[in-house]
This record gives sequence, structure tokens and C-alpha cells, in this order.
Amino acid sequence: MYVEVPVEVLQMNPFTAIGKDSFLITAGTPDKYNTMTASWGSMGVLWGRNIVTLYVRKSRYTHQLLEENDGFTVSFFPPDMKKQLLWCGSHSGRDFDKVKETGLQPTFISSPRGPERVTFKAATLVFSCTKAACYDLDNSHFLLNQINDFYLDGDFHTVYIGFIDSILSSQ
Ligand SMILES: Cc1cc2nc3c(=O)[nH]c(=O)nc-3n(C[C@H](O)[C@H](O)[C@H](O)COP(=O)(O)O)c2cc1C
Repeated sequence: MYVEVPVEVLQMNPFTAIGKDSFLITAGTPDKYNTMTASWGSMGVLWGRNIVTLYVRKSRYTHQLLEENDGFTVSFFPPDMKKQLLWCGSHSGRDFDKVKETGLQPTFISSPRGPERVTFKAATLVFSCTKAACYDLDNSHFLLNQINDFYLDGDFHTVYIGFIDSILSSQ
């Protein structure tokens, strides 16, 4: 069960929570969704709103679901879920049923627009977001040559900026 928490009481360190612990990006509806592990992302303020920014390569099945839907969830888990997160980060939802393979239990949360969004019962902190903007990265954006090393295969990230609708904490 989740309670909504105001952003002012958040205790998380975004650098360790995102970059070290990783999180799940989940896009879609209760009928059709997918989740993937991410450790690149950012949180902040833009256009007068609190935002989460995701960086998702076009090859990901989750990219397709992000394109098809108005919103997404960003879910953080306790350390004992690391194995499941690594599994979701090394297999595609195109080939596997991630819920079946990992034992993650989906749960659905209301959205201010359209169908419910999806997260997982084991998540301790969930950001429910509406897509506000997205754009594709390409070489012309990079000012430091070393960044090109991340895209030798041409699999560029799409940047998704999401307005945070609610922050839910498990009880
Ligand atoms: C720790 C970790 C962090 C990752 N971070 C990202 C990320 O920020 N962006 C991204 O596009 N892929 C990232 N990945 C790779 C995707 O999670 C992986 O390709 C996944 O299988 C995609 O699943 P899908 O095809 O079902 O969407 C990460 C993988 C791991 C293990």
C-alpha cells in the first residue's frame, strides 16, 4: 500500500538512487506494459514543475511503450531486489515475460489522464509522471568528442521529460 508524499519530505539522494542502485522505468497500461532497468536519469525542476528525465535507447522495447503512452512510472526498490533489477536490465520484454521470470508483482496506480499506470508491489518509492517533452539525441548535440563513444552502434537515447504527478511511498 502506498501513501502520497510531498516532494519536500523526500530523503533520497538522486545520485546514488539513480546511478548506483538503479530503478525501473515502466510504461504502458495494465493490459500492455513493459519495464526496464535504468541507471541514467535526472530529477529537478523545469517549466515550473518537478520533473524526472529518462534516457532510453531506441532499441529498448520500453522505448516503444514510452512512445505509445502518455505517462510512465519510475520505481525504486530495496537492495535485496538488485538481482531482479539486473535481470530486467539484461533481458527484453520482447522476448520474455519479465513479471513471470522475476516474480515482480505488478500493481496499478491511478493516473490524472487515461488508464492506470503500472508499478510493482516491492517498490518503496514511485514517481508517477506525465510525459511533457521528448527528443532524440544525435551526434550534433555533443560538445565533447568522448560522448560519441557511447553511441558507436548508433543506438541513440531518446530523452523523456516527465512532469511528476505524484510521489508514492510504501508503508
Ligand atoms: C544497471 C543497468 C542500468 C541500465 N540503464 C539504462 C538506461 O538508463 N537507459 C537505457 O536505455 N538502457 C539501460 N539499461 C539497459 C536496459 O535495461 C536493457 O537493455 C533492457 O533489457 C531493456 O529491456 P526492454 O527491451 O524490455 O525495454 C540498463 C541496464 C542495467 C543492467
